[in-house]
Formats: sequence, structure tokens, C-alpha cells
Amino acid sequence: MTENILVCTAWPYANGSLHLGHIAGCYLPADIFARYHRLIQNNVIMVSGSDAHGTPVTITAEAQGITPNEVSENYQKEFLNDWSNLGISYDLFTSTHTENHTKIVQEIFLKLYEKDLIYKDIMSQPFCNASSCNQFLADRYVEGTCPLCKFNQARGDQCDNCGNTLDPKDLIDIRCNRRKDCNESPEFRKTEHFFLRLSNFETELLEWVKTKNHWKSNVKNFTIGFLEGGLIDRAITRDITWGIPIPLEGYEDKRIYVWFEAVIGYLSASIEWASRQDDPEIWKEFWDGSSKSYYFMGKDNIPFHTVIWPAILLGNENLNLPFDVPANEYVNMESKKISTSRNWVVNLKDYLEKYDPDPLRFALTSIMPETSDSNFSWEEYLRRNNDELVATFGNLVNRVFSMTHRYFDGIVQKPTRLNEEDIQLLEFTKSSMNNLSEELSNCKFRRGLEICMNLSQSLNKYLENQAPWKSFKENPEECATTLYYSINVINCLKTMFNPFMPFSTEKLNSLLGFDETINTLGWVWDSSEMSPGKKLQPAEPLFVKLDESIVDEEVSKLGIN
Ligand code: MF3
Ligand code: ZN
Repeated sequence: MTENILVCTAWPYANGSLHLGHIAGCYLPADIFARYHRLIQNNVIMVSGSDAHGTPVTITAEAQGITPNEVSENYQKEFLNDWSNLGISYDLFTSTHTENHTKIVQEIFLKLYEKDLIYKDIMSQPFCNASSCNQFLADRYVEGTCPLCKFNQARGDQCDNCGNTLDPKDLIDIRCNRRKDCNESPEFRKTEHFFLRLSNFETELLEWVKTKNHWKSNVKNFTIGFLEGGLIDRAITRDITWGIPIPLEGYEDKRIYVWFEAVIGYLSASIEWASRQDDPEIWKEFWDGSSKSYYFMGKDNIPFHTVIWPAILLGNENLNLPFDVPANEYVNMESKKISTSRNWVVNLKDYLEKYDPDPLRFALTSIMPETSDSNFSWEEYLRRNNDELVATFGNLVNRVFSMTHRYFDGIVQKPTRLNEEDIQLLEFTKSSMNNLSEELSNCKFRRGLEICMNLSQSLNKYLENQAPWKSFKENPEECATTLYYSINVINCLKTMFNPFMPFSTEKLNSLLGFDETINTLGWVWDSSEMSPGKKLQPAEPLFVKLDESIVDEEVSKLGIN
């Protein structure tokens, strides 16, 4: 049965480059998942966009002396380039700074306001009296000690150590960090704001989460703990001027809080995508009864997607809550925490200027931080490229293609034997493909890639045993048969590897002689595809061997500002 699958990724703040940690933790798993579902002929839309509002963008704009809008437009362009160069296959990657998004956020705001799920109240907010500040401080402009875990650099909205969401007034020893040298302790001044009645949803959300037995245990347990700690109503407007205006009179100098509006982006992006299709109502198919939505992100984003966004959806009614939230842990760089300010990071655009996309997709999948933090090292990257991609998979393809050309003019021959070893290979191929399906539908990407590599190794062993380069002389039919089965397994490997490495598998697909793309051919393994008489293109390398020297070269760039 065809399913409707909505693939969502966290919206990156449009104030900085994407790095390898973001890709391994969020964008790549989402893309592999979306590609797999397209291959099995499900209807898929993959949506996201730039998170254009919020203090992170304002801070960068101040630092660069340009407007927040210019900052977000620059990064929007960069992100779009990144996606196309790395093969991240969004159906729409938009921005929160669009008319469509503004309209939908304002509609939802008003709907919840009319239902009394959003209400006005007076609150006190930190205000910095230092002459160079003299303004209300956004949550990110204040820092202090987390009341829960005592981490001393918690931000006003969240503690990066324990992951809990915070309110500025929770912080112990609160100080202004709007500018590096400020450090004033802000006073709390009264200001009127709108609040989301989260307390209303506590029981309903708790019951909902408890049924989510397919969630990762860390995501589920974190959310249950969060809800059991008690849900308190949160202010969803701020005293700032960059962001979505409040759709009520008298609040011209305030804006809707970035987290409240950005999560609505999943819906507005789906609607924007649909508006460009034949049927502008088609977005509903991804938000109603039987469709499933998957939200990919790093672990710091969990409560916004398992509590705040579901609460907004419940308040709005009739739209599906997240089906799964396969959030990931973090990736370290050369065994140290990634830090953009200390330049202990590899930005995606820098990587892509020098190296190919598929080896990165391959290397990052094998270290995806699915259950615990993981580590990227250039040495490991080099080893995976040279030993696994070039030596194992690439070489395998190369040998089979070369022999078929050398012995049989590149023509697939008719098999004349089906012995124990052939049967084993074919059965192992079939079961590998089925197991891969299972792992990918459960978002177990690391395990999925291992299955593909195991099959490649098995085919290598099969070739060693059969030694077609020997049998060709005494018994060409033996040789022809071995190559026939090998070509068929390679044809299966091309499909299995495709969600992980779309560029090189498409190249392999055309070398195998297909005019249609792998996506059109679908998730099938059919021996009639590579039937006798079919002609292979001449072999071409799928991957390039990298020189050992790149390791030192790349590592030495880290940490230099
Ligand atoms: N911009 C946020 C971050 O980088 C993620 C926002 S996800 C959204 O942490 F759903 F709220 F958009
Ligand atoms: Zn200040």
C-alpha cells in the first residue's frame, strides 16, 4: 500500500554555515530516509527552510553591520548550494521570512487566541540598563547558571548542558551577554506579552507520548521527564522588531517568538510546496489520518518537536502529530567538541569545494550519532574512502565490468549452472535487501550501510572462490555464469546503496546500461533487468583514491581562526 510520508528536518538558523555535525545528525539521515521511501514508491515530501528570525540572526547582523534580512538571504543561498552539491533532496527548502509563512503563523496565532489557548499577561523580562544596551534582552542575550543542572553558561531559553528549556527568570546569577564586554546584571521590567497555555496539554501529551513505543528511548524518556516535570505556560512574543508581527493592534513593537513560529514552518512549507503543484490542496494528504510524519534533528531540539509543536497542533486541531522524532546525539571533530567560534569545525561548503559528496555521505552515515555521541576524524574518513569505497565496492564493480568486457565484449552471458554457492549468494542478496528495508524504515541508517558493505564483501569472496579469470581458459561457460550472477548482485547493490550514495550509484546505473534513473526503476531486484544479451558500458571508476597527505593537511586547519 502506498503511504504518504512527510519528512521534516530542523530549520537551520540562517546565521552560519552548515557543518559536518549538522549533516550527520540531521540532514543526511532525513535524506536517506526520504530517498528510500521514494524508491519503495511511497509519496514523499521533504520540507524545511532557513530559520530566518530569532536572535541568532540579529546577533550576526549586528556583528557584520548588515540587516538581519541580508544575513538570512545570504545563508539561504549558501544552504541551497549545499543541498544541491551534497544531494540533499528537499521537495522544498524555503524560509520563515515569506508571506506564506507569516500568513499561516498569524492565522494559527489568532485561532489559538480565540480559543483562549493564547492569552495576554504582564510578565517581567530582563532589561539591560547599560547605556550601550538600554533594551529588553532576548533570551539568548542573557546567561547564567541553570537551576536544574547548575551548568554556569545556560542561556535564557535553554540549557545546553541538560537540554531543558528555561525562562530567563529561572537563571541563577543572570548577566547580560548581548555584547562581549557587557556582563551587567539586568533588571526585570514589566512588559505585556502573549502566552501559550501549555498547561492545558500536559495530560494529553503525556498520554500521547506514552504510546510511542517505536520512538528512540532517549527521545521518549526525555519527553516524558519533561512533561512529568509539569508544563507551564510560556510567553510566545518578545520585545524585538525582527520577526513575525503579532496580528493584533497595539503590539507593533513586539514580534512572535522564533520557536513558536519556526515549528509552524513544517506546515507552511507543505502548503507552499502544494501551491506549486497541480492540486494546491494536496498538502493535506501529508497532514491527515493515515500519513506519517518524521522529524529529524539534533537532540537540543527535542522538546520543541515533542512538546511545543504537538501542543500547537492539538490546539489547532485536525492535523497529525509527529509520528516519529528520530533525534540524534552529537558528532565530535577529531575527538573534541565541535566549536564554530574556535573554528574546530569542517563546514560543508569547504568540504564540497575539494572532495566528492558520496564519500562524505558514506563516512558520515557510518558514524551517525544514532544512540550516542560519535567522532569524525580525517584519518577514518580517508580509510573509509580508500579501503571501503575504492578497494571494496569500487574495485568489485571494476573487476566485474572489466572481465565482462575482456572476455565477452561487455555482453551479459547466459548462466549455465546454479550450484550451492550461487544459490547462497543469491539468497544472501535477497535477504540483505529485505533486511536493509527493515533497518531504513526504522531509521537505523548505520546498520543499513553495514548490510550493504557485508553484501559487497560476500560478492568479493564469491569472486575469489569462483576465480572467473582462471575458469575462462578451461571453461568459459563457468566464467560466464559467475559474471552473470555477479552483475546481478551489483545491480542489486546499486539500488541498496542508492539512498546513501545517490551520485555514484546513478553513475553505476548508467554504466549498467539503464536509461531510467534508479528512482524510476524502484526498489526491486529483478534478474530480468540484467538478462543475457544486455551490454555493459566500459568500466569507469566510481570513487577516487585520496592521498594520505590530506589527513595532516585538513587536521592542521582546525582551530585556526
Ligand atoms: N533553528 C533551530 C536550531 O538551529 C531549529 C529550529 S527547528 C524549527 O536549533 F522547527 F523550529 F524550525
Ligand atoms: Zn548589556
